[in-house]
Amino acid sequence: MSVHNLVLIGFMGTGKSSVGRLCARQLGYRFRDSDVEIERRTGCSIAQFFADHGEAAFRQIECAVIAELARGSGQVIATGGGAVLLEENVHALRATGFVVLLTATPEVIWQRVGRSHKRPLLAGTPDPLTRIRELLATREPCYARAADLQVDTCGLTREAVVERVLAAYREHRK
Ligand code: S3P
Repeated sequence: MSVHNLVLIGFMGTGKSSVGRLCARQLGYRFRDSDVEIERRTGCSIAQFFADHGEAAFRQIECAVIAELARGSGQVIATGGGAVLLEENVHALRATGFVVLLTATPEVIWQRVGRSHKRPLLAGTPDPLTRIRELLATREPCYARAADLQVDTCGLTREAVVERVLAAYREHRK
């Protein structure tokens, strides 16, 4: 199957949604955010869903949503930070998409996400920075395996990240 989506993966706070929205505008693609689709489908916020049903139930819905998004075309898809933990998701996304990993250091991620209550995996942790480091360490191999390209977002403006992502995507599509 040929590539007809641009997919952004990476940890929370790496800019997947904001970069994705700008990329979609420039490409004339539809922007899809897997977390937003999950909220639409469940009728509640991600944080509330985690609190009521737990992470395993969330991952099941995330998997169904990603499979559905990957079937579409002409889209920029921003995924939740844990989407690549399931091989099935990676397979579906890579089958139809060029996959770009956005990265940042734990410190920069911490500055960006702060004490956001929207991030259930960080909420309620006494030491979020350590939690970010731990999660990143376990996820890094999954992120690297899933990506066609990596862009380090530290020290770059959102526009500069968009430029790099789009240049690589256009080159890939030639
Ligand atoms: C998660 C990241 C979140 C959201 C959920 C789980 C994760 O998305 O999907 O809270 O496992 O890293 P963002 O990466 O958009 O914050």
